Amino acid sequence: MDRASRCGAVVLTKLFRVDALQPDPGVLDEVCRDVLDGKLIVFPTETVYGLGASIYRPEAIRRIFIAKNRPMDNPLIIHISRVEHLYETAIDIPDSVWRLIELAWPGPLTLVLKRGRAVPPEATAGLPTVAIRMPAHPVAQRLIDCTGPLAAPSANISGRPSPTTGHHILTDMFGRANDIIDAGDTIFGVESTIVDFSTEPPKLLRPGAMPIERITETLGIEVVVTDISRGYREAEKAVAPGMKYRHYAPATPLVVVERRKSEDVVEVALGLRREGKRVAVITCRENAEVYQGAVDRVVTVGSRENLFEVAKNLFAALRELDRLGVDIAIAESFPERGIGLAIMNRLRKAATKILR
Ligand code: TXA
Ligand code: MG
Repeated sequence: MDRASRCGAVVLTKLFRVDALQPDPGVLDEVCRDVLDGKLIVFPTETVYGLGASIYRPEAIRRIFIAKNRPMDNPLIIHISRVEHLYETAIDIPDSVWRLIELAWPGPLTLVLKRGRAVPPEATAGLPTVAIRMPAHPVAQRLIDCTGPLAAPSANISGRPSPTTGHHILTDMFGRANDIIDAGDTIFGVESTIVDFSTEPPKLLRPGAMPIERITETLGIEVVVTDISRGYREAEKAVAPGMKYRHYAPATPLVVVERRKSEDVVEVALGLRREGKRVAVITCRENAEVYQGAVDRVVTVGSRENLFEVAKNLFAALRELDRLGVDIAIAESFPERGIGLAIMNRLRKAATKILR
């Protein structure tokens, strides 16, 4: 029996399958009514699926933490669909943020700002700041237009890779959320980029689908990038409260090899096999052949030349590791430019060991 059933928290889940671009308005109306009624819903965004509740229903927000087994001190992102929603959810918005919003919203960028009146402390773990984003997914936009702002973390059980497919949300949230809207695979496959504008200069809290270069170069503003934002856990302080927990983790132990050459990764694999371990490797298409014969299973996440493809497949690959019957997995490194910074952050945070 899983934890939800032990807590008596099993709910009857309604499942809706919709077209991502032209969702059935009848479905959106029904889910909207449920949200306003205080229900928990799983909805698609362009990054990963979210587990949402209305910001006007603090008791529903509390149930998000139970449904996910999420520590109560880890605040949620508020999802909005119109700039007007900012007036109730944030205060003292700096000029640079308004310029950034024009450039990047709707899209995979979350801004940490000073908290506005309408956001209950349940959503922000009592912090005076609030994380806000405006998703670009048509289903999320139309739904939030109807419901108003939604507090939502990623729709995974805490600690697991974020859900990027219909299968992932069913696995994690069936019996935990009241409604699930399955709109197929998400577009980016990694979460939004989070930048903290409540301090000066602004700080990158989590690299994500929006390349940080796009923000710094286009706007000409400085954003502080630390080892924490690159995913190194030993450097951790509780900057984004969520950063202090191990994340995205398959049950299979994962070694991330930061050396560039695939020959180095082969060496590590052969060493593990000499210890009698069954080994999987996470690699790119270009290198897949190098591992034939050297490891037991090869998981290809895409081309090194297209890091968006790698990002899109990454969480599915991490989940797949547990189904391969291996003792340990090794991941290659990817270039840390653009969305590559998010890929490496997620791999390091999922790792049981990093070889530098
Ligand atoms: O792409 C995304 O951002 C997805 C989709 C569903 O929108 N959401 C998502 O939420 O990834 P979640 O809860 O899995 O990650 C939110 C992160 C956590 O690390 C949390 O600690 C941080 O945002 N966060 C939230 N509010 C914050 C605040 N006021 N200050 C600093 N960090 C905050
Ligand atoms: Mg999450």
